[in-house]
Amino acid sequence: MNSLSRFGTAEGRWAGVGPYYAMFPVTFAERIVLDHTDTGDVVLDPFAGRGTGLYSAAVNDRHGVGVEINPVGWVYTRAKLRPASKQHVLKRLQEIGKNSYRYRIAAKKLPTFFKRCYTLDVRAFLLTARSWLNWRQSKTDWTLMALLLIHLHGKRTDSLSNQMRQTKSLSPPYAIRWWKENNQSPPDIDPIEFMSKKLDWRYAKGTPDVTTSEVYLGDSVVRLPQLQTTLDSFGIGRASLLFTSPPYCGVTNYHYDQWLRLWLLGGPEQPVAQVDSRRGKFTDRSKYRELLKLVFMKSKTLLASDALIYVRTDSREFTRSITCEVLSEVFPEKTLKVYESPSPAKTQTDLFTDSAPKKGETDLVLM
Ligand SMILES: C[S@@+](CC[C@H](N)C(=O)[O-])C[C@H]1O[C@@H](n2cnc3c(N)ncnc32)[C@H](O)[C@@H]1O
Repeated sequence: MNSLSRFGTAEGRWAGVGPYYAMFPVTFAERIVLDHTDTGDVVLDPFAGRGTGLYSAAVNDRHGVGVEINPVGWVYTRAKLRPASKQHVLKRLQEIGKNSYRYRIAAKKLPTFFKRCYTLDVRAFLLTARSWLNWRQSKTDWTLMALLLIHLHGKRTDSLSNQMRQTKSLSPPYAIRWWKENNQSPPDIDPIEFMSKKLDWRYAKGTPDVTTSEVYLGDSVVRLPQLQTTLDSFGIGRASLLFTSPPYCGVTNYHYDQWLRLWLLGGPEQPVAQVDSRRGKFTDRSKYRELLKLVFMKSKTLLASDALIYVRTDSREFTRSITCEVLSEVFPEKTLKVYESPSPAKTQTDLFTDSAPKKGETDLVLM
């Protein structure tokens, strides 16, 4: 076991990439993978998020394979499964820094939110990174982008931004009002120096030792059928564990809440309510049910007949009952066991190492 909760190893340091809503606690993910798979097995996650389940497999001599529709979660997962060397990332960071002067005029024209959130130097640096980093295709660039996304916003004293939450991007009017009322201005930092220190910490124990694994960017409904080729390339036809946590119906909007990070990845300069049903808040109940059914059905074609299904979900009535219903429909040959949240505590969003399901969460296991 790699003890992902500790920072004394590269595996532990990289497990924290990066802040994401409703992420699995790392020790929980690692325990599920180790308890239910053997060396060389494949773990499938069709709602990968920041990829904790896939990463737990990859650093423990298993293969992880999955899909994530939100580019923020995808970049974090990609960087953990295939990180570039420090030397390459540092060189690229310096190159971005050297060319930032080209973006100073554009940086002056950004909306008020950006001016109150970042200094001119930081804005020019971010615009350069936004336009230069080929994060979809280049290993160096997705690694640097993942590290930038982590520090894009957070505590004023420990991020590139004025005071913000780290997990979720604030709405511009709210943030501007709050900064004015609390007399907060953007931190005066050199972004290259700041990021170099962050790289020093992340790479202090090296890069994680990962078994070949893959995460795809896109909609699982479309991408899952294409994953058979990946399983074949591992030399293993079927996955032995489906380990996932679907979006919770009506709870959060992964695209809206990550708007500032999505901006750095090339998205719009303000939060946009998504019209696409698979990127929104999942409020339409019949569409939510249909999504779960399609994704679990398509996942099933990639699973061994004796595979174990482990799904962590919301214990609020609608999400919980629909998920149980859909899983029983898709896997009628298996027995469903339900483990309710044992104790009133924080949600897993607030946690990093604790592994028990929290108040508001339910684990559904089929075998
Ligand atoms: C509860 S989160 C998963 C968190 C994950 N277990 C982790 O540790 O980070 C659910 C994820 O499903 C993703 N998602 C929603 N619809 C999807 C779809 N159709 N295809 C792929 N991913 C999807 C969301 O973007 C979100 O990241």
